[in-house]
Amino acid sequence: MRLTRKATAMALASCMVLSMTACGGSQTAATTAAPATEAATTAAATEAAKEAETTAAAAAEATGTADMSDKKVGISIYKFDDNFMTLYRTELERYLTEDLGFKKENITIQDGKGDQAEQTNQIQNFIASGVDVMILNLVQASSAPQVTDMCKDANIPVVYINREPDVAEEERWASEKINATYVGADARQSGTFQGEEIAETANKGDINGDGKVSYIMVQGDPENVDAQYRTEFSVKALTDAGIEVEELLMQRGDWDQAKGQQIVQDALTQFGDKVEVVFCNNDAMALGALQAIEAAERKVNEDIYLVGVDALTEAVQNVVDGKMTGTVFNDHFSQADTAADIAVKFLSGETVDPVNMVDYVKVTSDNAADILAKVK
Ligand code: GAL
Repeated sequence: MRLTRKATAMALASCMVLSMTACGGSQTAATTAAPATEAATTAAATEAAKEAETTAAAAAEATGTADMSDKKVGISIYKFDDNFMTLYRTELERYLTEDLGFKKENITIQDGKGDQAEQTNQIQNFIASGVDVMILNLVQASSAPQVTDMCKDANIPVVYINREPDVAEEERWASEKINATYVGADARQSGTFQGEEIAETANKGDINGDGKVSYIMVQGDPENVDAQYRTEFSVKALTDAGIEVEELLMQRGDWDQAKGQQIVQDALTQFGDKVEVVFCNNDAMALGALQAIEAAERKVNEDIYLVGVDALTEAVQNVVDGKMTGTVFNDHFSQADTAADIAVKFLSGETVDPVNMVDYVKVTSDNAADILAKVK
């Protein structure tokens, strides 16, 4: 389904290499010549291999695809134990190898384990081992200036993903012509979509008709702009629509399902029927929230609303089944593919914009079945 023009070109190029060196046939000197000595055979084979390499490079050139087969990529993910970043990581590796022609053995993916010191160590090791480009999902976005300088000094381009460094840092890349960039999605948009999903319900989120929407906010890791913006903009979409709001509780759940469940369980015990809306900064926490909601015998879309972000398969299925009010598709396919395409641009010496954003998509009962087909 995702076989692109580039993938076809790469398949063609590697088939050429194979046919020149191993498949034999009339086109290669190595197989047609009848060498008198072993040395001559080796020489002919070396010659053929060289010619094959040149042909692969030429094929790549002709189709506008750079030959990435010998390029080394260092990737570090803030932590492997994160549902959304696991989907992202899987697509990144698939796209690099299947569509862009990187070799699997040239791609190293490290688990940052939620520890910036550990991740910085991994980055130092990438530099020591001579990777050609890095794709980094920082544990702490605030460490971007230090990491960028390390990469710059080693002359290695860096593509930051998912956790956005601050604007001053992004501007520095442009003004100092540093080969660094960010690929992500504007979290303000996802927050706005969450708020709109509530504002678009029949009673505009005011289930008990007291003239205001009483909500609890389950936050991701607040160091992360995704958590900050989703929290701010989900509520702003309601107030912008002229809806009065009341915050019953805001608590950090660090993107984690078990924490989401605990927070919502406690909130439902404390506030009971007062809770009309549960905003979760991501779907993992919304899945936890749903467990707590069901355990408290509350019914989503009847006596409580629940929204998340990411469009994890299970969450989208819940939207289809009416167990979640909505979610927002955090398009890991487009983000991963864009990050990889930009890594290739750096390796090809092209100029890259400092910030590259992919759109979010609102997911409600209207389109959940279509989105499910996409993410499944
Ligand atoms: C967000 C995503 C969360 C979590 C976080 C990690 O964009 O919605 O589920 O993966 O990134 O930084």
